[in-house]
Amino acid sequence: MTVPAALEQYLESQRERFEEDLCEILRIPSVSTDSRHRGDVRRGAEWVASQFQAMGLEAEICETTGHPIVFAQSAPVTGKPVALVYGHYDVQPPDPLSEWKSPPFEPTRRDGNIYARGATDDKGQMLTHVKSAQAWMATAGSLPIQLKFVIEGEEEVGSGGMYGFLDTNRDRLQADIAVISDTSQFAPGQPAITYGLKGIAYYELRLVGPRQDLHSGTFGGAVTNPANTLSKMLSALVDSKGRVQVPHFYDKVVPLGDEERKQFAALPFSESAFMKQIGVDGVSGEEGYTTLERRWARPTCDINGLTSGYQGEGAKTVLPSRASAKFSFRLVPNQDPHDVTVELKKMLQAMCPPGIAMELIDFHGAPGFVLPLDSPYMAAASRAIEQGFGRAPVFIREGGSIPIVNTFKEQLKIDTLLLGWGLDDDNTHSPNEKFSLADFHRGIKASACLWQELAELG
Ligand code: BES
Ligand code: ZN
Repeated sequence: MTVPAALEQYLESQRERFEEDLCEILRIPSVSTDSRHRGDVRRGAEWVASQFQAMGLEAEICETTGHPIVFAQSAPVTGKPVALVYGHYDVQPPDPLSEWKSPPFEPTRRDGNIYARGATDDKGQMLTHVKSAQAWMATAGSLPIQLKFVIEGEEEVGSGGMYGFLDTNRDRLQADIAVISDTSQFAPGQPAITYGLKGIAYYELRLVGPRQDLHSGTFGGAVTNPANTLSKMLSALVDSKGRVQVPHFYDKVVPLGDEERKQFAALPFSESAFMKQIGVDGVSGEEGYTTLERRWARPTCDINGLTSGYQGEGAKTVLPSRASAKFSFRLVPNQDPHDVTVELKKMLQAMCPPGIAMELIDFHGAPGFVLPLDSPYMAAASRAIEQGFGRAPVFIREGGSIPIVNTFKEQLKIDTLLLGWGLDDDNTHSPNEKFSLADFHRGIKASACLWQELAELG
């Protein structure tokens, strides 16, 4: 069933205003990991809350141990399912700033896209559900099902505050299905529903050697160099075949089934186009797996930041007193981030030589998951996407993480629909993040259709 004609007309007539509203939230530098942006993150929450209030919904800014969560809900609709819409208004740091063609918090339209940090991840995608709700309220006076919105400000730093919030608000958050748009389409013009994401385990390793930096000629070779040690430790994490070397890391990994491997292989993925997109002349990874398998369904390890010694112009012969690295593992279903922490710590401690003090900081972790494909909710979402995007979605997995999805299952006993409107080349977490404005509007339409499709499930 299509949505009412009045609603379609409304969406058409409001395109410009929706884009303006998107620009408004994109101007708020709500960088959750950076304490200097604390106030901006709160302004992000206030902006989101004001959107709900403007459409006549109750909205509340809920305090947490970290950044606030915005909660809003529409009226109950008897006999119809309840959907919990989750999204995040926080963003990743915009660094490196010099590589942005237009400033990260001055949203700029170019070639049919909007460029800004958070354009697709997740302000633009999150807003599609807010706008579809607004459209229903404005044209029909109510929504066809009850929506409960939870929009948080800590997704990009592991969702720390969400766990307590779910715990204390379990009754209020009761729903039949969760809906998240914070993933991607398979390709331009080919929408997707994501049925699996990776988990994560994120660390910082700090090594301290001598009291202060030393002359590398006078002391080198006789005093343990923290940068040398860090390099050894990091290179021990993955072997030449791309296998993670943390003990017991693969113990619980479920092997990729032949059926799923066939499904991945049947998708129109071009490795050469992929290499061209990221500007490399070759790819590598775990031996025995294709690029899509590595990206979507195999655990990995990546250094995210690396610091030691002299970084200025020219050469300086110095034995640095400290070295540190931020690194993370992406996990697949069944792997437990806590197990990784225990084994990793033991492994690194055993490698730590005399003269070096080691500290391992465990930032955050979450397990990976796959979602059921055969539910009526999936079918409803598929129909809604077809109406919004003009093409039926394919089913994919992705390599990113959304930590709270597992907890929705565990605490609220509900599955999640991951309906992504982004694209692989949207530059999330990197310079020149963008979101296609056409997909923004298609996403709003798909979302508006989804509420109707879910209502028809009764
Ligand atoms: N939108 C992403 C999740 C995502 C990325 C899904 C790529 C599919 C493909 C999300 O906002 C994100 O980046 N999450 C973090 C979570 C982490 C900090 C706990 C991530 O994956 O790095
Ligand atoms: Zn992100």
